[in-house]
Amino acid sequence: MVALGKVFTAEGSPNIAFIKYWGKRDEKLVLPYNSSISMTFDHAVLKTTTSVMFSKKLKADVFYLDGKLQDLRDKELKERMNVLDLLRKSAGTDVHALIVSKNDFPTASGMASSASGIATLVYTANKALEASLAPKELSTIARQGSGSACRSMFGGIVLWRKGQKADGSDSYAEQAFDENYWPELVDNIVVVSQSKKKVSSRAGMRQTIETNPLFKSRPEAAEKRLREFIDAYRNRNLDSISRIMIADNNEMHALMLSTVPSIRYLNPASYAIMDAIDELNASSSEAVAGYTFDAGPNANIITTDKNQQKVMSAIKQLIEDGTIQYIKTSKAGKGPSMLNDKDSLITDRMKKDHGA
Ligand code: PMV
Repeated sequence: MVALGKVFTAEGSPNIAFIKYWGKRDEKLVLPYNSSISMTFDHAVLKTTTSVMFSKKLKADVFYLDGKLQDLRDKELKERMNVLDLLRKSAGTDVHALIVSKNDFPTASGMASSASGIATLVYTANKALEASLAPKELSTIARQGSGSACRSMFGGIVLWRKGQKADGSDSYAEQAFDENYWPELVDNIVVVSQSKKKVSSRAGMRQTIETNPLFKSRPEAAEKRLREFIDAYRNRNLDSISRIMIADNNEMHALMLSTVPSIRYLNPASYAIMDAIDELNASSSEAVAGYTFDAGPNANIITTDKNQQKVMSAIKQLIEDGTIQYIKTSKAGKGPSMLNDKDSLITDRMKKDHGA
């Protein structure tokens, strides 16, 4: 039974991958060549808030993002919003939805806004449709909107199993370690640019698969690193997780660079941060920080509370000269969660404008 006319609101967070997903073996079903692992951010630091209302009075789906009405005929948005149809199918309904979503961080700048946006939408719409799908099933739906979104369906450290089946039923995310397993671990999200990325990750991945012969060695290497990463995380070994994530990051960005035409998401500010952390690690007996970048120039520097001051000193100059715009520091956070009626983003005006 769909809860018609009732607004449901929830919040969820982006995630940062330590072993990256880059390349689909099935574009339509969004099935990756390798498994990946990530940390979900704390809602208090980075979050998406989404309200969903299903109504028989709506003639089509309506979607507002960051205060702007979106054109759902846009190809990429349509592919992402496919998750709504998958949820409706599971719930046995074709009723339309009014969706209002906002990010408290720059959208589409390589800060995984699509991951938290889609995960939060899937979570909220599942409640509104009273579809009661299990988290694993919800992750397979979120995956089809944006691969990395399946990992934001859970909190803590999240593993996306690549799966092997052609129908994608065994390609889902699950929690590997909860958010309290290693409470001293911190991620510094270092913002050097707030502009939109030039090549979407979807297009970039396709280009890499189609043109880059080096990609062949990636899936096996990433799977190996993933196993090593899980062991290192289990042992709360900062030196190992730092080295592994840096190696995986560098491999992914090297593949992007050697794609034709070349895709370069990193900029001089990103390289300056890499230099600073490499120097810090080289001057310590063990690595004390790792870095990783998504499809954008903003860095994630991972360390522990104990080493946080050293990291801040290592990048001090870049903060002072304005290379780094701002830093948000997050520990691992929870998966999506429901908010109260008072948190609704849907206004009477929006309902009136769309006849809901
Ligand atoms: O899920 P997408 O299409 O936003 O792709 C995400 C790709 C990376 O962020 C670069 C890596 C990852 O695993 O999150």
